[in-house]
Amino acid sequence: MITTAKAPANIAFIKYWGKSNEKLRLPMNSSISMNLSEVYTTTSVEFSEKFKEDFIYIDGKRVKAKEKERVVGQLDLIRNLARIRLRAKVKSRNNFPKGTGLASSASGFAALTLAASKAAGLNLSEKELSIIARLGSGSACRSLPEGFVEWKAGDSSKTSYAYSLYPPNYWDICDVVAMVGESSKKVSSTEGHAIVESSLFYKVRIAGMKNKVRGIKDALKKKDFTKFGEILEEEAINMHVVMMTSEPPLYYWLPETLDVMLSVIEWRDKGLESYFTIDAGPNVHVICQARNAARIKRRLIKLNGIKRVIINKPSIGARLI
Ligand code: DP6
Repeated sequence: MITTAKAPANIAFIKYWGKSNEKLRLPMNSSISMNLSEVYTTTSVEFSEKFKEDFIYIDGKRVKAKEKERVVGQLDLIRNLARIRLRAKVKSRNNFPKGTGLASSASGFAALTLAASKAAGLNLSEKELSIIARLGSGSACRSLPEGFVEWKAGDSSKTSYAYSLYPPNYWDICDVVAMVGESSKKVSSTEGHAIVESSLFYKVRIAGMKNKVRGIKDALKKKDFTKFGEILEEEAINMHVVMMTSEPPLYYWLPETLDVMLSVIEWRDKGLESYFTIDAGPNVHVICQARNAARIKRRLIKLNGIKRVIINKPSIGARLI
């Protein structure tokens, strides 16, 4: 039987950058995110005796080597749990270019974990799914629960998982994504996580993390958009300072990235309130109240080098389709 799941990408307001355990993908700090309505992965999985090996297709292309190994590793986790040895055919489609900092590993591993576990006959809870997705890609654990999500860092595999803080309709905010680059990044986030300690600023970052998580949760609870925005924007810069001061330094921004950042600040100074955040790629996520989203999109499209603008609302989590 073929089982299909759809999972949203998510944007982190408080980021996951650096692991306390690389193999188990335990993060150094808790993170806070929102699932995105228009950016997602759809994955179908079939286990069968007719397959002599695992066949993995991503966006219509059969993948091999490292990319395949990571997916097979995730299938192995699920096969072990379900006590089956059957090989699988996996077909995964992103509705956006993968590897551009638009969180394809998050939506990808969330959809894969849900589809494969069901196809293997398992009936896992959201918490269990979140833990298994985390082992495939850390940020994927946040794409299982709905809406606004916290990933509790925890101190073991069993205590490190994500859960929903609020459903999607809790707060009318949008993530207007300005796509400035569509080519795959040179340094993956997995490689980036591994060198965080080489930045002099990493210790300082970690020291402030608990306070920041508390602050953003409080702003979320009060729906205090200004406080919320100030924290998430500072957080993005904070992470990128660590990236740029690692050994080797990681520069994910393009000139257009900085152009969008400066424009957002200028528009805000003139009364159009929004805040930016950026993951491990050049695209900029402009966070605003829903009533301002269309206006911001119109302005972003007019900037140099903007390829596409996508307005995302908060979304439900991964589900079977
Ligand atoms: C910058 O989840 O892609 O997007 O666990 O190695 O797969 P792995 O890393 P990944 O890292 C995401 C980093 C980030 C910040 C975030 O989403 O919190």
